[in-house]
Amino acid sequence: MSKDLFVAAREAMAHAYAPYSKFPVGAALLTTDGRVFTGANIEVASYPEGWCAETTALGHYVMAGGGKLAEIAVVAEKMDRITPCGGCRQRLAEFADPDTKLHLCDQNGIVETVTMAEILPFGFKGDTLK
Ligand code: THU
Repeated sequence: MSKDLFVAAREAMAHAYAPYSKFPVGAALLTTDGRVFTGANIEVASYPEGWCAETTALGHYVMAGGGKLAEIAVVAEKMDRITPCGGCRQRLAEFADPDTKLHLCDQNGIVETVTMAEILPFGFKGDTLK
């Protein structure tokens, strides 16, 4: 299933709208009940208004009802082992568990698998806001 998730992320990357950075990124989220949601980065001429592939994927996932996340895959065309930016780590952590697997990929497949806790130690938790 991890291989399929990588393929889904790579296919999503083909939809990137990145005319400014020319740095396409794709992301795919797998829920524990087998649903896959994908996203690509979308840039805007007013640069700070663009957003990341992980954020697009999370939007699709939330709009479809969410659910428990099992695995996440991220791939970038021009980076051997893409790691999500800080903002996306926080966004992913909002919906993932500390032990949710995150597959860091290159063009050919998964290069390294880490957990959310490993990529976002000491992340801000919303518990106290409730
Ligand atoms: N980007 C992502 O889509 N995800 C990340 O985790 C890192 C960066 C995008 C944002 C921008 O469109 C391009 O990569 C260059 O920063």
